[in-house]
Amino acid sequence: MSTTYEHNSVRRPLEFLKQEKGVIVTYLKSDHNGFITKEQLLNEITPKTKLIVASHGSNLTGAIFPIEMIGSVCKEKGITFLVDASQTAGVLPIDMDAMNIDMLAFPGHKGLLGPQGTGGLLSSKVQWN
Ligand SMILES: Cc1ncc(COP(=O)(O)O)c(C=O)c1O
Repeated sequence: MSTTYEHNSVRRPLEFLKQEKGVIVTYLKSDHNGFITKEQLLNEITPKTKLIVASHGSNLTGAIFPIEMIGSVCKEKGITFLVDASQTAGVLPIDMDAMNIDMLAFPGHKGLLGPQGTGGLLSSKVQWN
């Protein structure tokens, strides 16, 4: 599951998994600030939901998305939570434990002021069922 607000770098691999691998991918409809409610999230989660992917922040609108809320729902439901921190790594504090983030994807060349083309994927306590 993801949201309608994601960058193509998230959307395209999800669409690949959907179209080529038969993975069920759903998108929560966020408002123009990228906001989704807890009720919306709970309504869309099914027993088959294994992964939720969401951005932390947008460079287009400046919106900061409700990562803590999504993380707490993921923890409660045992769902792996992947955050796209492309626009926030090095800019905003990110505490993977406190925010219940299982995987954090980030570029080196944006807010971390690193070399072009670098990036990372931090992973903690991931269990693929
Ligand atoms: C939210 C988000 N995710 C992913 C990306 C892709 O980042 P990159 O160009 O470093 O691969 C961007 C780039 O603007 C972004 O804003």
